Amino acid sequence: MATNFWLQLKHPILALAPMEGVTDSAFRLLCRRRGADVVYTEFMAAEAITHGAKSVLAKMRFVAEERPVVCQIFGKSPEAFATAAKTIEDLGFDGIDLNFGCPARKVVSHGAGVALLRDPQYARRLVEAALERITIPLSIKVRTSIRKESKDADPGNPERYTALQLIEAIKGLPVHAIMVHGRGYEQGHSGDIDTDMIRQVKAAFPGIVLANGGITTPAGTADMLDRTGADGVGIARGAWGQPWIFRQSRELLSTGRFIPANPDDVVSAIIEHAKLLNELKGAYGLLEFRKHFGYYVTGFPGAAQWRRQAVTVSTIADVTKLANAIGNQLKEIPPA
Ligand SMILES: Cc1cc2nc3c(=O)[nH]c(=O)nc-3n(C[C@H](O)[C@H](O)[C@H](O)COP(=O)(O)O)c2cc1C
Repeated sequence: MATNFWLQLKHPILALAPMEGVTDSAFRLLCRRRGADVVYTEFMAAEAITHGAKSVLAKMRFVAEERPVVCQIFGKSPEAFATAAKTIEDLGFDGIDLNFGCPARKVVSHGAGVALLRDPQYARRLVEAALERITIPLSIKVRTSIRKESKDADPGNPERYTALQLIEAIKGLPVHAIMVHGRGYEQGHSGDIDTDMIRQVKAAFPGIVLANGGITTPAGTADMLDRTGADGVGIARGAWGQPWIFRQSRELLSTGRFIPANPDDVVSAIIEHAKLLNELKGAYGLLEFRKHFGYYVTGFPGAAQWRRQAVTVSTIADVTKLANAIGNQLKEIPPA
């Protein structure tokens, strides 16, 4: 029987939320080293895992230092969920997460992701299927709500399905944690966070609740915890270019203050990130790094010029030179 790592985590739990194309092994490691308590992979198509698709298996690579690491899947077939869950356990992941929150058209049009909020009983079947063949803990990720389709809208009833109906449907199943993205399907990735709904989820669900959405600063972490009463938070875009947000959040929560990132933190994160991506994906990793680089320099004087220079890097030595130049420039700026 696998250990349930969720029970061993210090509260409040600071999680790196799943992001397609972002939370690869390199970024997860970077965030773990800077205070994330648990990290999620990007979503993987359950069907692709069952077919042993090379591209998806490559995305499932992780290293021991990332632990605890949770692998997320999406899809709609109970059979695929069962097989994929078993593969995830066999690969050594610490947990599996089921995506009931993705709003992408390619996912929702197949009735997967957030569309599953419209059919809580079917979502339960998927959870049961995944649980059938695993001993590692299972979690789910949801959005707060989705509008009812006109065909099943009932004038006498609320017009939205919410995460609460899903929680009611999975009652009694050993689901250990839920990450709630506090936005409805129709909001996409922007707009207000429904902290009240997250609070209601916390009241209704007996396991761990992680509040997600809109956290970009350590104060944002503290505020989210205050408003929702959640056991922890999931940080997604707030970790772009500032993976130290986890360490800083922990500092703020424990001591009431945090140490701002200094130029050396920026330089070392840039170099480390590029090296990790290069080790993971070879030359292609350095191409991908350009995307991350832009976030590291956001808000810096001359950011546009640094970004232009980043397009020319093709070796770790180039990245190191560029990062050091940025560090030197930052050191010349008098502290605010
Ligand atoms: C580029 C990108 C990719 C994402 N990919 C996933 C994913 O694979 N699985 C998932 O559950 N959520 C995914 N999300 C949603 C995030 O996990 C998170 O719920 C959302 O961004 C809100 O959190 P934030 O405001 O902290 O960014 C993604 C978000 C972004 C911006």
